Amino acid sequence: MAELIGVIGTGAMGRGIVQLFAQAGHQLRLFDAAPGAVDAAIAFVGTMVDRLAAKGTLTAQAAADVKARVRPVDSLAGLAGCTLVVEAIIERLDAKQALFRELEAQVGDGCILASNTSSLLISAIAAACRLPGRVAGLHFFNPVPLMKVAEVIPGVLTDAAVTDRLKAIVEGAGHRAVIAADQPGFLVNHAGRALYTEGLRLVEEGVADVVGVDRIVREAMGFRMGPFELLDLTGLDVSGSVMLSIYEQFQHDPRYRPSALVPPRIAAGLFGRKTGRGFYAYPDGERQEPVEAAPPSASGTIWLDDRAPAALRALLGDAVVDRPDAASVLMLTLWGEDVSGAAARLGLDAARCVAVDPITDLARRRTLMRSPVTRADVVEVAHAQLGRDGGKVSVIGDSAGFVAQRILAMIVNTGCEIAQRGIASPADIDDAVRLGLGYPKGPLALGDALDAARVFEILTRLQAITGDPRYRPSQWLRRRALLGVPLVQP
Ligand SMILES: NC(=O)c1ccc[n+]([C@@H]2O[C@H](COP(=O)([O-])OP(=O)(O)OC[C@H]3O[C@@H](n4cnc5c(N)ncnc54)[C@H](O)[C@@H]3O)[C@@H](O)[C@H]2O)c1
Repeated sequence: MAELIGVIGTGAMGRGIVQLFAQAGHQLRLFDAAPGAVDAAIAFVGTMVDRLAAKGTLTAQAAADVKARVRPVDSLAGLAGCTLVVEAIIERLDAKQALFRELEAQVGDGCILASNTSSLLISAIAAACRLPGRVAGLHFFNPVPLMKVAEVIPGVLTDAAVTDRLKAIVEGAGHRAVIAADQPGFLVNHAGRALYTEGLRLVEEGVADVVGVDRIVREAMGFRMGPFELLDLTGLDVSGSVMLSIYEQFQHDPRYRPSALVPPRIAAGLFGRKTGRGFYAYPDGERQEPVEAAPPSASGTIWLDDRAPAALRALLGDAVVDRPDAASVLMLTLWGEDVSGAAARLGLDAARCVAVDPITDLARRRTLMRSPVTRADVVEVAHAQLGRDGGKVSVIGDSAGFVAQRILAMIVNTGCEIAQRGIASPADIDDAVRLGLGYPKGPLALGDALDAARVFEILTRLQAITGDPRYRPSQWLRRRALLGVPLVQP
């Protein structure tokens, strides 16, 4: 059924919402406080649909119909007949509350009022309203037509029928609608904390540098972007305050702990792409990444522990020896442990020990970890042999869980915690993260790909070794790991 939808605030998000709903056949009425903003949004939507028509995605008639459905209004009174109003104005509680209060005087009692807020509590916006039951969050992602998911967020007092209707309207427009509770970061921004905060922590601990972490996440883990490229894209000013706000709202739970690396960078204006410099430099708008040195050429034999995956054994080929001689590299494959701890546990000479992360896609990149006392010539031989087929190798400092195990385990754990807190259903968690954050799989499916018991083992060891409650496994994960059931129920 076609709705009459008002959109207030026609900036980056508002105009995308207008395009999506107009293409779905709804009538749109646009209002913005800034002079010229509505005209600019209407022109933008026109250009976008004309482009789709030129590509053949829309017929010329369909494009003309979309444009005809989009009309300006010059005051809130112009929204009187709307069945739904979506607000996408400035991210300030006082401004949104004042707007919703004024709006209630203009629209009928049956009109749904939705906010596109990223970080404010829906219940706090609704608290300003005469009828809080009709207020809900409707959180889209930028650019709205391309990011095919929206979070529908019922506030504490929102009527169930309002949530259902918003879900139907979003799905009618071809986007996946997920339901998220009115909790810090809702679903997607909550789930996204793990990659950022663990990436920052790895750099803070000197395990790898910014480029090193990003390369492992992108190539060895198969993500589209590493955490630092992403922070540069969204802007550290914005992401830094989201990190802080979610941490505060979760009562300083160490799982969400922000990084001390961020405030000085914000103070220095290193926001990322938009300021030309962030974790990377963007001299001509293009990200500059240092060239990676080729593996050294060094020969020597390698003794592999008996847990080494077959792919690693095959890669190293004739360099592998069953009985190490005095010069052989001792190469370990570890889960949730560091080289120092493993060498001490096994009674091995740490100066000859290195470890390779068995979790990652060895075809794309291998991660080689050294202890603080591993000899330089040992690292050189291991590096040369791991890169003997021309493959890429990252050399990192000692860290329980390497880079990839730590980041993956934290992503899975955060997804499990969202499920444990009842913030969203397992299916919604995975779909929202895939579509909203672009991860190759949702956190729960990532956990199953690795095995829930393995993730639980990594986290338990990380917590024991570091003493940091940040790594405590979610009880939702623990129960499933102990019972041997998958995180995603078939
Ligand atoms: N940009 C994103 O990636 C993104 C993603 C999800 C959610 N959001 C949320 O969407 C909302 C809008 O963000 P944006 O990036 O589109 O901002 P924007 O600055 O691009 O656009 C905001 C528009 O609202 C107008 N406006 C401000 N106060 C107003 C008022 N009181 N009444 C009417 N119009 C008013 C401004 O003139 C401007 O045109 C915010 O709540 C933001 O947190 C943004």
